[in-house]
Amino acid sequence: MAEDLQIATGTKEEQYAALLPQIKGLLEGEADLIANLANVTGALKEQFDWLWVGFYLVKGEELVLGPFQGPVACTRIKKGRGVCGTSWAQSKTLIVPDVEKFPGHIACSSLSRSEIVVPVLKNGEVVAVLDVDSIALNTFDETDQHYLEEVVQLISL
Ligand code: SME
Repeated sequence: MAEDLQIATGTKEEQYAALLPQIKGLLEGEADLIANLANVTGALKEQFDWLWVGFYLVKGEELVLGPFQGPVACTRIKKGRGVCGTSWAQSKTLIVPDVEKFPGHIACSSLSRSEIVVPVLKNGEVVAVLDVDSIALNTFDETDQHYLEEVVQLISL
């Protein structure tokens, strides 16, 4: 069966609004976590064409690289390090308008200029983070936070 994504145009809200039910449809009926994380990154990358979209999974005291779309990336990030490790430690979404101004930012790609990291929670604990990088400054705002937090809630862990 074809699994073509319908790419939406319009405002960012309109694009997310069209994408969310499609992501829901992709995840429904599939219990495999890696398959689902992979399709979430594929759908977001296809719709928004950001530089990098991917998941890091909590494994012990580190985040370990999971499914992603984009350039090769760092494989392990310690709790409290970089934007991803800080989002994990603080259990909250972090919007970084300019990565050069985030103390301790980990530059996996020199092309990344702004970033958003959304924690994925299970029973109140962070079990993964969704990380998105853009080649432009100031790409992410509260709209992205709102919808990306909805996206991670669709993932059953
Ligand atoms: N910039 C992230 C590292 C992951 S890469 O962007 C894919 C950070 O500071 O945690």
